[in-house]
Amino acid sequence: MKLIKVENQTQGGKEAYQIIADAMTHHHIQTLGLATGSTPLPLYQELVASNLDFSTMNSVNLDEYIGLAPTDPQSYHYFMMEHLFKAKPFKVNYLPNGQATDIAAECQRYEEILAAHPVDIQILGIGENGHIGFNEPGSPFGSVTRDVALTESTIKANSRNFESIDDVPTQAISMGIKSIMQAKKIILLAFGDKKADAIYQTVKGPVTEDVPASVLQLHPNVTIIVDEAAAKKFNRII
Ligand code: GLP
Repeated sequence: MKLIKVENQTQGGKEAYQIIADAMTHHHIQTLGLATGSTPLPLYQELVASNLDFSTMNSVNLDEYIGLAPTDPQSYHYFMMEHLFKAKPFKVNYLPNGQATDIAAECQRYEEILAAHPVDIQILGIGENGHIGFNEPGSPFGSVTRDVALTESTIKANSRNFESIDDVPTQAISMGIKSIMQAKKIILLAFGDKKADAIYQTVKGPVTEDVPASVLQLHPNVTIIVDEAAAKKFNRII
């Protein structure tokens, strides 16, 4: 794992942007794996402001709430459209369909998409409990795209984006841990002291399904970009 400590989230966005820009320039990458949440927003602002052309590339997103339409402002479809896709057209943007009537079939379809479009660089945020995508603690490392129940702590953390906590969906479709680990390169971003425990456990703790992001210790090409607050538990080793 490579750790990069930055001054703030804006700088973190610039670091991640540079890695993507270099890969696009020198390695002709085909597929970007994208994440939602407040964490990657400065990265998406950098991508939007850049002259990078994504029109021959595909994107795949980690997850989507079950029950929300793409036009729902709380959906991850809407989030991605607003913050990146509207300004930067891709060849195809793949996201799980949270309105699918047959969720199992939708998960299967999504795994087929991932198999056809191997992710070159996967962007990840992290939940306060160490989740990646919506793989909550206890998610099997062998898991693939599936229907997941959100934990109380995730529902509470994500309720800041909804009018009321009762509006937060309790289920989502998420790429699994195994699906995420298939990316050739992974960039995990974490900012703020609410993420400090999760980041410490991810980097220094045991590799355990209790901390889903700790699986990244087993991946050969991971860069973790953190600010001072998210890194505060191990300031001395960075
Ligand atoms: C959600 C998403 C995750 C994201 C997490 C953290 O649960 N499914 O992909 O990493 O939120 O969100 P934030 O970046 O807003 O802290």
